[in-house]
Amino acid sequence: MKVLVATKDLAVFDALQGLTGLEYSEALFTGQIYESLPGARLVIVDFDDLVEHPYSVNMLRGILSDSDVPFVSSEEFLAEPEAWLNEARRLGGDTTELPTKRTVAFVSYSGGVGKTVLAMDTAVHFARRAKLPVALLEFTYGESAVGALVGAQIPALFELATQPDVDPVVWNGVTLVPMDYDNSRDLSIQLLGKYLKDVMREHVLTVIDAHWPHALIGAVRDEIDRWYVVATPRPDAVENAEKLAAELGPKAAIVLNQKGGMVDSLALSGVERAVELPTVREADRWNGELGKRILLHTYGQGTWGQYEPKKMFADLRKRFSRSKD
Ligand SMILES: Nc1ncnc2c1ncn2[C@@H]1O[C@H](COP(=O)(O)OP(=O)(O)O)[C@@H](O)[C@H]1O
Ligand SMILES: [Mg+2]
Repeated sequence: MKVLVATKDLAVFDALQGLTGLEYSEALFTGQIYESLPGARLVIVDFDDLVEHPYSVNMLRGILSDSDVPFVSSEEFLAEPEAWLNEARRLGGDTTELPTKRTVAFVSYSGGVGKTVLAMDTAVHFARRAKLPVALLEFTYGESAVGALVGAQIPALFELATQPDVDPVVWNGVTLVPMDYDNSRDLSIQLLGKYLKDVMREHVLTVIDAHWPHALIGAVRDEIDRWYVVATPRPDAVENAEKLAAELGPKAAIVLNQKGGMVDSLALSGVERAVELPTVREADRWNGELGKRILLHTYGQGTWGQYEPKKMFADLRKRFSRSKD
């Protein structure tokens, strides 16, 4: 049985020493605890002892509260260790591998290629399936697409970054940070960077919808693990995407969106793309058809596949919904 020990209290280690059938690992970084959670049956944690890297203590506390693994302070544990270990044996834990912390940006020179749709569908689908914290940030000009989508007046970047008591809106499980460039342009990159890094510390996945180039992107540029350069099969869009991918370097990957039929194949021969996405009906209903494929690429089949329903159930569901039409 695996027990996670996240405390500086050495008495806990004394209490666990020599117990048979028990293996414990130490973790004081919030990220270590998050990553070691799968398979753990009990977490002994003193939140004051933790190093907030890369997640905040608050965020980790939320993850633990939502998980099936019991957690307990060192003091509570030491008062009755046997009772806690029995409880841990009884409950069983969860072995689902958790997605690693990631920041991914959808980016392109051209408009209308699908950045907003893909960013939104990826974020909403992540929230729906993994039920873990996910944020959506915008680096766009003009009216915020995210703000327009939600309809109601919601706090945008300027207000969020300058007023500590204003919190972002959470919509369909996604924390939204809309861009209001006309206001936010007056803030320094440093201040924006500090605020947005704090947002990222509260989320497992951060998705960014970005126009390229963008005057404020320097605020998060170093945090981005993956640039998804989005293109449609038009020759000029593909050419632009290849140029941008080269400019962004090894973290860039081309996403070919709205791939149609045979006509496209000539323009596309020789283009190295990581993901191909079809034209779907109701792209702005966020049913996850597009986001799922992005998440499989980001996290791999092994990790993200765990969160998708098995094919048999998906087929049944499809048949069921068709028969309702
Ligand atoms: N895979 C897709 N299937 C169907 N429609 C799509 C797809 N991707 C994008 N669209 C549609 O194309 C239009 C432009 O997409 P959008 O995400 O707003 O582009 P961008 O943010 O790059 O300007 C929108 O109407 C959107 O619904
Ligand atoms: Mg857009």
